[in-house]
Amino acid sequence: MIGRLNHVAIAVPDLQAAAAQYRDMLGANVGAPQDEPDHGVTVVFIELPNTKIELLYPLGDASPINGFLEKNPSGGIHHVCYEVDDIHAASARLVEKGARVLGGGEPKIGAHGKPVLFLHPKDFNGTLIELEQV
Ligand code: CO
Repeated sequence: MIGRLNHVAIAVPDLQAAAAQYRDMLGANVGAPQDEPDHGVTVVFIELPNTKIELLYPLGDASPINGFLEKNPSGGIHHVCYEVDDIHAASARLVEKGARVLGGGEPKIGAHGKPVLFLHPKDFNGTLIELEQV
């Protein structure tokens, strides 16, 4: 069911510093910061030849990234995103197999303007999984 790795998201305590590090130290193709108020994050996308890195920084007091950074003050991998062809079929299959789909199983529009779902990390070896329909 899952296809390519779309991106790995890393929560960072200092977005400017993290973007500069990927650009200047690692020599990556780093985009401009984008505010995503619906998701409570500011994101910087980094294009790699085979996937993307998404740097996540909290936007607003209710950001889901605030708690993560409290537990991981120097930042850390927040989620991985796999591509699927049909997000509704993926959701139905996961629910049928007993996985918890966050947000009641209804896809939201993600940071790339495409429908996404998140799966409970406790059901997947401690990893928050995002599914994106491509
Ligand atoms: Co993501």
